[in-house]
Amino acid sequence: MKVGDVHYRSIWRDAATGEVRIIDQRWLPHDFPIATLESLDDFATAIRDMWVRGAPLIGATAAYGVARQMERDPSDAALAEAYEVLHATRPTAINLRWALDEMRNVLSRLPEADRAEAAFAKAAAICDDDVETNRMIGVHGLDIIREIAAKKKPGERVNLLTHCNAGWLATVDWGTATSPMYQAMEAGIDIHVWVDETRPRNQGAQLTSWEMAGAGIPHHLIVDNAGGHLMQRGEVDMVIVGTDRTTATGDVCNKIGTYLKALAARDNGVPFYVALPSSTIDWTVSDGLAEIPIEERDGREVTHVYGRDEDGTARFVQISPDATPGGNPAFDVTPARLVTGLITERGVATPSREGLLDLFPERRSTA
Ligand code: MRU
Repeated sequence: MKVGDVHYRSIWRDAATGEVRIIDQRWLPHDFPIATLESLDDFATAIRDMWVRGAPLIGATAAYGVARQMERDPSDAALAEAYEVLHATRPTAINLRWALDEMRNVLSRLPEADRAEAAFAKAAAICDDDVETNRMIGVHGLDIIREIAAKKKPGERVNLLTHCNAGWLATVDWGTATSPMYQAMEAGIDIHVWVDETRPRNQGAQLTSWEMAGAGIPHHLIVDNAGGHLMQRGEVDMVIVGTDRTTATGDVCNKIGTYLKALAARDNGVPFYVALPSSTIDWTVSDGLAEIPIEERDGREVTHVYGRDEDGTARFVQISPDATPGGNPAFDVTPARLVTGLITERGVATPSREGLLDLFPERRSTA
């Protein structure tokens, strides 16, 4: 997507130097720093400390981390070390394990001398595939938005609500939940997006709002508690969110607070869609609540917020008493029964094992 007049991906390899670059997302929207990741440690830190975040981008970054490591040391031991160090960075997003497995499967079969070049080629392919996958998610999601728009009276807009940032910043480009929004905008459909601020890290306030503003998509930033009220008043036509891990049975693990939106959507008859690349499906897991590890992050993310003061200086401020510790579960699980549909690159699946297997029949032997 464009930032000003320049087209960016969220991660890329500099054509002249071969360096791996990212947008350091910690400081958006008040600053737009580009960081170069060099050592394995740099890649692990960028994922763990959320310079990059969002399930698909976490996977893509890990793939490049393996490639950098292979350039330095293409031995089996170095490959195993890269896998282990990167895998330990964040526990919930399954794209991390998926991308590391993809890399290891390709590299472990090759002689050491060929590994670095193959690793960079594979990491680039993972990124390119992600872009095309997300474009296709947008094509299928657009069909749903079109159907909703067709039922509107002249002059009425389609109101979407999204949680966290499942935008181009969370993927390599397009985003998952935002891809249908960008494509609806291009198609001339009158949409408006309610953006949940998404405490504690404020991915909605800082990232999704920035994306919407950059693309000229009409939107409002709302507090996390406003969604239910807006749904009761008929001001939300569709909820669309991303996911960090989807079970083989259609349960969805996404940013904390997603479950509450799904409950409110069900109570108000609002369709609740989840947009996901198939790399986010964990075919080994059937029960999201019992089996998906939920990341617990530092309580400081709850007790402190980042923003810009009236003098224009961006800083962290503490919002709670010194003696109050923050509790910070980062994800929750929305059971499949609350999900209307799973928008994938192959089309929209009903949230069930059969629904997913209809779209991904090659998984019938393993799921
Ligand atoms: O903690 P984050 O910012 O990595 O969490 C991101 C989300 O929860 C996204 O909704 C999810 O990764 C899907 S991104 C297409």
